Amino acid sequence: MKKLIVANWKMNPKTSDEARKLFLGIEHRMHFFNDKAQVVLCPPFIYLPQLSLYSHHIRLGAQNLHAKDSGAFTGEVSVAQLSGLRVTHVILGHSERRIYFGETDSQVREKIEAALRHKMIPVVCLGGDPKASKGTMKRLVTKQFKAAVNGLDKKLVGKIIFVYEPIWAISTFKNAEPATGEHAAELTLHIRDLLEKIVGTVHAANMPILYGGSVNKANVHEFSKFPTIDGALVGAASLDSDNFMTVVKEFHRESIHKT
Ligand code: PGA
Repeated sequence: MKKLIVANWKMNPKTSDEARKLFLGIEHRMHFFNDKAQVVLCPPFIYLPQLSLYSHHIRLGAQNLHAKDSGAFTGEVSVAQLSGLRVTHVILGHSERRIYFGETDSQVREKIEAALRHKMIPVVCLGGDPKASKGTMKRLVTKQFKAAVNGLDKKLVGKIIFVYEPIWAISTFKNAEPATGEHAAELTLHIRDLLEKIVGTVHAANMPILYGGSVNKANVHEFSKFPTIDGALVGAASLDSDNFMTVVKEFHRESIHKT
């Protein structure tokens, strides 16, 4: 399985010119790494049409979608509209969506189903509840996981990419600190155990499970060295192509090392 590194640009950068330069700074270097690593880049919606013209090695993802295919939903973007722009992935259940926009587990679930209906891959974040402490993370992850998949056809569950992203590790949150590699490895393993019960051991072993929260060039090895962590969801560090490419390189290096 290729390592997977998902870039979450959030509401950055400010201009389409900056977006193009940043994108090309990554795209042009990806041919060295795409044998063992896949990058999915999730810019703001507004840059997707432009960036889809330049993407060869990089896949494009969205940061949100509306669960309905069409209708009177001012300010929203549907999955049907996104698929027309060569968008293959979508980040769902992110802490910032849950906290600042009040997204509930059941809304996240509706969006997952909408994405899957259109053959788009949901990248589902688990760990986004400000009330959860380090000690209660496993319980929270289990609850959010179940809300995301219970009752869903197991073939569809098998298409979802899960990310363990504890809210306190996201770089822009107050007093953020990255998880330790051991903690991230333990929780990604826990997610794999949950998946095994639904899709079976063989299939679960081939599903990428990522860690997210303050991953950057300085600490990536702390996570990439664990075989149970198949990649990362990267926010702030993805806004600097050198920083981001070091993260990609490190996962790539580990992958070569282990095969
Ligand atoms: P961060 O963001 O890498 O800046 O912590 C990750 C995310 O919010 O997805």
